[in-house]
Amino acid sequence: MSVIRTEKHDDVLVIVADNPPVNALGAKVRQGLVDGIEQALGDDTVKAVVIRCDGRTFFAGADITEFGKAPVGPNLGEALDKMEASDKPVVAAIHGTALGGGCEVALACHYRVAVTSARLGLPEVKLGLIPGAAGTQRLPRVVGVANALPMVVKGDPISATKALEIGLIDRIVGAQTLAADAIAFAREQIGKPVPRSSAGTAQQDAVRDPSIFDTFRQQNARGLRGFEAPEAAIQAVKASTEGSYADGVKRERELFVKLMSGTQSAAMRHYFFAERAANKIDNVDAATPLIPVNKVGVIGAGTMGGGIAMNFLSAGIPVTIVEMQQDALDRGTGVMRRNYENSAKRGRMTGEQVEAAMGILQPTLNYGDLADCDLVIEAVFESMDIKKEVFAKLDGIVKQGAILASNTSYLDIDEIASATRRPEFVVGLHFFSPANVMKLLEMVRGAKTSDAVLLTCMALAKKIGKIAVVAGNCPGFIGNRMLTPRQQQAQALIMEGANYWDVDDVLVDFGFPMGPFQMGDLAGNDVGWHRDPSRVETVREALCAAGRFGQKAGKGWYDYDEARNRTPSDETRAIIADFASKAGKPQRSFTKDEIRERLLYPMVNEGAKILAEGKAQRASDIDVVWINGYGWPLFTGGPMFWADTVGLDTVVAGLERHGLPVDESLRSRAAAGERFSN
Ligand code: 3HC
Ligand code: NAI
Repeated sequence: MSVIRTEKHDDVLVIVADNPPVNALGAKVRQGLVDGIEQALGDDTVKAVVIRCDGRTFFAGADITEFGKAPVGPNLGEALDKMEASDKPVVAAIHGTALGGGCEVALACHYRVAVTSARLGLPEVKLGLIPGAAGTQRLPRVVGVANALPMVVKGDPISATKALEIGLIDRIVGAQTLAADAIAFAREQIGKPVPRSSAGTAQQDAVRDPSIFDTFRQQNARGLRGFEAPEAAIQAVKASTEGSYADGVKRERELFVKLMSGTQSAAMRHYFFAERAANKIDNVDAATPLIPVNKVGVIGAGTMGGGIAMNFLSAGIPVTIVEMQQDALDRGTGVMRRNYENSAKRGRMTGEQVEAAMGILQPTLNYGDLADCDLVIEAVFESMDIKKEVFAKLDGIVKQGAILASNTSYLDIDEIASATRRPEFVVGLHFFSPANVMKLLEMVRGAKTSDAVLLTCMALAKKIGKIAVVAGNCPGFIGNRMLTPRQQQAQALIMEGANYWDVDDVLVDFGFPMGPFQMGDLAGNDVGWHRDPSRVETVREALCAAGRFGQKAGKGWYDYDEARNRTPSDETRAIIADFASKAGKPQRSFTKDEIRERLLYPMVNEGAKILAEGKAQRASDIDVVWINGYGWPLFTGGPMFWADTVGLDTVVAGLERHGLPVDESLRSRAAAGERFSN
């Protein structure tokens, strides 16, 4: 079947793409567009052209599966130049998402109309790229540099309303009448001179204020740290203000080609597919009917319970939250309300939305109120005895057919399930803190968890905006299990003489938001501390005994000034030196490379073990966990993809050099020259 067809509506030729699922601009689509335009130009009875798509969306961009392969068929940029050169008006009729190359198609059209729900954007930076079909040159000419910069550099799409406001589209048309309205709009343009978005130089805002680029860089420095594509995007947009369109396109191409062949883009494209692969659950019957989830129960209104509940409330699903004591319940629901109100203050939601969310929350001290819930998530203290007690109780109260989930961080989900008479309805749903913010959800598959439960939780995760990854049942599952060796190495390193701030700096330089000691200071070193200054068995206890609780005390591992800038502390150094000397640890200095290897290679080794034991379905799932749950830098593709880029033989040699264990599965994969990713 052809992916492009044309329809003649009297004097308007409509070029229709139909390339499911997202009308990606693969070779056949590009060829079809070129043929369609040629047909329009060669037919005197055609006075105007409309380009639209069948299916769920306008072109969602270049076909990412073609990247890295030899180019086939017409180049998109040239096809679009040809289209724009037409003297017959060409109108893009947009629904769904006009993204990347799709947005560039729209930009090369002389006019754009869209339905209200449409979104337009240039998300290439999220794949470590910049637009490659003149998007960086046409967009600023159409909407000005100030509007173009965030779109190109950050890659977030904008709504049709916003697009109309900044002049990216010309008209909003009816959702049901897009095709007809676009034809009518095209007819209105017949005989008028066509506007071309490659004409002239970019609008004058950047000329009036040349510092616009530097200001933008500074304002966004934190979010863009470590990424190569955003800087290239800034340079490409800048080029649109400096010279001819042709020069700008040339500059864009140079930057695009360089990024496309780089490691960051390969890593981020890997991640794009990894995130989608993570949705797929191995060995389940995909035809299994889902369990309708119309009401959720949460047990425990502490740090996690409140955040977990908010996810469902925000999605319009009523939640019953249970606590043991009224004061804990009030505290928990108070925190939830404050979080919502803060979002409202920041303009992320309206006052009515806050009330709507809180209005479907039922706080209670009575477990009986959970009886009619379709899903109950337990978030009480991390203790097997307590969890088993809670699950036994739930089993007797909650209706049959409902899902019983635990938010445990480390505990055995099968043992928890054994406290019930329905282990097939028990699953781990491991949210990350803060649970209303963090995207990751580890879904722990117990030995008996049913297909219906797994498929329902996966669908529900999507509904509440989470990225779910299936993990097998083992201590710490995927994420925390891999965190353990990193934490052990961090502690070992400082005992052997490495500077603790170097340990943090190595991870920050690598792209993590912070290192383990900074994290300790942020969370509070006294979390879980027994408050007995005379019992000092670890460095952390010694820090607490000295009042070094962390940022809140103005001192922890580091000393903090009023602006919370950290400086290494002599007192902390002395404490560490004292422990090291008592343990008889020989001291030496460490290079940053050595520290990085000691921290990260053991994680790769643990990842290999997790994979070999079948506790992760695929290596890319591990990448998804670490990027979304622990701040592993996206531009490296996650720990397993990163290991591939380092070279598995290098990782094995490094582990051996540092006297660290090497799992057989890692060793044999390295010896066979195999990678984790395809
Ligand atoms: N190329 C190839 N496959 C794509 C694709 C693309 N551009 N976009 C989506 N797909 C595939 C997905 O991999 C998925 O495949 P699967 O079903 O086998 O897993 C399927 O289409 C459906 O995608 P989603 O699950 O993501 O569907 P959603 O409805 O949730 O989201 C979307 C739709 C918003 C369009 C989202 O898929 C998306 O953001 N796509 C990528 C958009 C993008 O980055 N475009 C820019 C590409 S780069 C470019 O255009 C360069 C140019 O400047 C030259
Ligand atoms: P928390 O101590 O902040 O909250 C636990 C709440 O449960 C308390 O308010 C307590 O009163 C309540 N509770 C205890 N027993 C109860 C019972 N029988 N019935 C009703 N309520 C009861 O603990 P937090 O941090 O929220 O942890 C909860 C669970 O989530 C633990 O299993 C933990 O391992 C897990 N987890 C914690 C994360 C974190 O960063 N804090 C991250 C991911 C998971």
